Amino acid sequence: MKIQQLLQQARSDLDVRGLPTPGLDAELLLAFSIDRERHFLYAHPAKELSSMELKQFRSLIARRIKKEPVAYITGRKDFWSLGIEVTPDVLIPRPDTEILIEEVLKLSLREAEKGLRILEIGTGSGAISIALASELEDAAITATDLSTKALAVAARNTVNNNVKGKISFLRGDMFEPVDEKFDIIVSNPPYISEGEFELLTAEVREYEPRRALVAGPEGTEFHRKLARDGKRFLERNGWLVMEMGADQRFALEKMLKDRDYCDITFRSDYAGIERVAMAKKRG
Ligand SMILES: C[S@@+](CC[C@H](N)C(=O)[O-])C[C@H]1O[C@@H](n2cnc3c(N)ncnc32)[C@H](O)[C@@H]1O
Repeated sequence: MKIQQLLQQARSDLDVRGLPTPGLDAELLLAFSIDRERHFLYAHPAKELSSMELKQFRSLIARRIKKEPVAYITGRKDFWSLGIEVTPDVLIPRPDTEILIEEVLKLSLREAEKGLRILEIGTGSGAISIALASELEDAAITATDLSTKALAVAARNTVNNNVKGKISFLRGDMFEPVDEKFDIIVSNPPYISEGEFELLTAEVREYEPRRALVAGPEGTEFHRKLARDGKRFLERNGWLVMEMGADQRFALEKMLKDRDYCDITFRSDYAGIERVAMAKKRG
């Protein structure tokens, strides 16, 4: 069968099972099966697959039909301008998180980039720290996670994205492995409540690491720890920048005010949902 026919068939197989992006998924999985980039499919619609390639493609489509995320099947997700390796030990980086990076980069310009020290809590695949390291030549970046397996993925991602040696990785619970102060603390913490977790799609609930998603009964438990303990690890006038979920603004604003942060601001994502909270430690 030719590439064009295979794509049509796979798209319709995924579509009838209610997968939200059947065309894109079919293309990504076919390109992966033949070890090519997606654009190759448009340039060679009449190419026939070998029987090995065909078998591989069919088995990948079968996995996708069971709702396994494409990024876990291919082991890769594009994020920022980077190719990030992902395994089931790490959250798949989300496009929304690019807003967090944009805000940290804006702060970096204001804070004179040279010598800037940045701490990321809960780095997972390393996507945030690696994006920052690729943009900020002179920043010293430290990144932590509780998961040893996630940190191994993050370390590999520094090599694949040419920022090896630019990030110090530490394993531990929140700030526990950290013993210095930073100009910016950034985090995309777990921020789903236990109740919300039950409502997530099977794709997320059954495949992504629960520990990366669920914060506790409220959903804001990690933000609370970041706001409380972050102050000890921030320089004066240092910034705390956190990703957040829809409807968490009220709770976050209150906890940041209670902890005496100033310049508290929120930034929405492109869907208009407030996605990033920023606050400054008083000088
Ligand atoms: C929402 S994921 C974010 C991953 C990555 N930074 C990203 O944006 O794609 C949260 C991360 O926090 C880590 N984590 C969970 N509990 C933690 C804790 N107590 N201390 C440090 N990291 C933790 C998880 O292992 C996971 O990698």
